[in-house]
Amino acid sequence: MTFVLPKGIRHIPAYLDRSEQVALVETIRSIVEEAPLYTPHMPRNGQPMSVRMTNCGTLGWYTDKAEGYRYISAHPVTSKPWPAIPLKLMEIWQEFSGVEKDPEACLINFYAPEAKMGLHADIDEKAFDCPVVSVSLGDDCLFRVGGLARKDKTQSFRLCSGDIVVIGGENRKAYHGVDRIYPNTSDLLKSGGRINLTLRRVNA
Ligand code: SIN
Ligand code: FE2
Repeated sequence: MTFVLPKGIRHIPAYLDRSEQVALVETIRSIVEEAPLYTPHMPRNGQPMSVRMTNCGTLGWYTDKAEGYRYISAHPVTSKPWPAIPLKLMEIWQEFSGVEKDPEACLINFYAPEAKMGLHADIDEKAFDCPVVSVSLGDDCLFRVGGLARKDKTQSFRLCSGDIVVIGGENRKAYHGVDRIYPNTSDLLKSGGRINLTLRRVNA
């Protein structure tokens, strides 16, 4: 099936080779040791998300029942600053973002086999002139992307380990989500699952 992605949205399949993926997973492991994964909770109803998260960068994305979606400069449990964004991810940002500004946040999402992420737009940043650049590692997922309105038609496609997605330009605020994980489609992560890294510029 051929399909055309909305303007400003790019999918680069298999950008990272196996050895780069292995190295990046090792780096992420050491970040998670210092900044452990937590379960975020939705604003108002306090429902836990199925995806566990942590961050690296000067800012990290966080949500809890009381204060909702926001960026914070320290880990919510350890209160320590987030670890730095690794060089490899800075290079990926430089290659794909098309902007001079550096990313401030890298959200690290861990999807267990049952986890998913509902359709949403990334709008908690101020720098909408900068894209969100995503890197996928581990099991495949079914990624869904639509337009600027929730009701716009959507299309879905598989993301595999080593793939990059760029969400920018006029569709920087496009709705997107993860419908499902395909368990056991990759042996990159010893216990399975999927990691997604999203690099974001937060401040204008
Ligand atoms: C996200 O929208 O934060 C994550 C997207 C993904 O997991 O591919
Ligand atoms: Fe997102």
